[in-house]
Amino acid sequence: MPRDTLTITDNRTGQTYEVPIENGAIATQQLAKIKIAPDREGLLGYDPAFGNTASCKSRITFIDGERGILRYRGYPIEELAEKSTFLETAYLIVKGELPDRAHFERWKKNVTQHTMVHENVKAFMAGFRYDAHPMGMLVGTVGALSTFYPDAQDVEDLESRRLQTRRLIGKLPTIAAFAYRHTRGRPYVYPDNDLSYTGNFLNMLFRMGERLYEPDPIIERALDVLFILHADHEQNCSTNAVRSVGSSLVDPYSAVAAGIGALYGPRHGGANEAVVRMLQEIGSVDRVPQAIQGFKNGDGRLMGFGHRIYKNYDPRGKIIKKLAYDVFEATGKNPLIEIALELERIALQDDYFVKRRLYPNVDFYSGVIYQAMGFPVTMFPVLFAIARTAGWLAQWAEMVRDPEQRISRPRQIYVGEEERHYIAIPERPPPSDREDMVSDDI
Ligand code: CMC
Repeated sequence: MPRDTLTITDNRTGQTYEVPIENGAIATQQLAKIKIAPDREGLLGYDPAFGNTASCKSRITFIDGERGILRYRGYPIEELAEKSTFLETAYLIVKGELPDRAHFERWKKNVTQHTMVHENVKAFMAGFRYDAHPMGMLVGTVGALSTFYPDAQDVEDLESRRLQTRRLIGKLPTIAAFAYRHTRGRPYVYPDNDLSYTGNFLNMLFRMGERLYEPDPIIERALDVLFILHADHEQNCSTNAVRSVGSSLVDPYSAVAAGIGALYGPRHGGANEAVVRMLQEIGSVDRVPQAIQGFKNGDGRLMGFGHRIYKNYDPRGKIIKKLAYDVFEATGKNPLIEIALELERIALQDDYFVKRRLYPNVDFYSGVIYQAMGFPVTMFPVLFAIARTAGWLAQWAEMVRDPEQRISRPRQIYVGEEERHYIAIPERPPPSDREDMVSDDI
């Protein structure tokens, strides 16, 4: 008779244990009872980078990496990208259901009310160096928001969580646009709440002398779709950072700032910036085979390829590839697309990539679109951060409410020195030549 359990025999002791299997997982805490002696520590699970460890139960995003499926709250990403707007999708992600008309109108009003930032936030941002990376400015400024909203510390209060969620989703585009204007030495543009969420963002980025800014509808819609595609992606590096930092019950501004920090890295949200730099470096279609050979030899990675979860085409990548051509109708073609297409064509036939199941991910084509829209590469991860704020906040609220969650505190396997004793400097021998040891050029 089959049972939903796992039987483990510890060959060190000959003892057998029966561990329940729930939702296709065993609770690693169950391993703690497997001991070689009652006074010794129990068995640990070792899983650097959480490759095969679920850190939470979640109702927000479903991914089937084998089949290339992504759903927010059960809705396929393809349907949302075609029919929804970013603000509606953000509502779905945060609240769990699509809104009816009245709820949607109220949500839009509530978010829009919070697009303005305190004048001191503006002054704070003006203090960054002229060439500061906008993502660095975003980390710092979102973190600084916690000093403006001390009420946010009450993370266990539902109304406070709702308010901070509206504030963050409302203010992210404003801070992002101010960061962009700062790098250009242009005056910051205040929000125009008669425009859509994305239209207003474009207004704050690109408005010059005109009295009223009218966004190009193709660009406005394309950016909105890109925001939908980036709004959540279950337990990725930055979401894990938000949950982990948030598990200390710090305010959400500090937790989201940690997420933005994680997103900044080239293996995460910085990848689309790295893709464009890579395409520029390759320079022409005829140099693609040589570049592919380089990646196979370990000379850098083919940026925008590969994913921890997707072992198939990233469904977002497919939508973005199509979207690129809509955008090019409004902006003219970005010549880097030809290099990207050739890289994809060759890589998908190459044994190295096929064997490792490396396919284009969301970042492979997004950078090419952003560049065609006139964004500098340093703004690419910032755009990602605006959209992902919805996901981070939904995940953060889910974590705060989850009775099974406690402060995040992984274990380690200590492989360092055994106990040793202090020797005064005059008698101390020179340090050994280990790689992680201090060297003379400290
Ligand atoms: N180019 C060449 N080789 C690669 C690549 C790549 N882009 N990605 C993985 N590999 C190889 C890797 O060298 C390793 O080979 P081997 O088994 O011979 O050592 C194997 O594939 C498995 O790689 P891994 O690093 O163990 O895989 P991972 O699941 O830890 O990493 C990843 C996932 C996304 C960090 C990685 O594929 C990568 O660095 N890709 C390029 C960066 C990128 O596009 N990042 C965006 C990710 S999607 C958006 C997001 O989540 O932010």
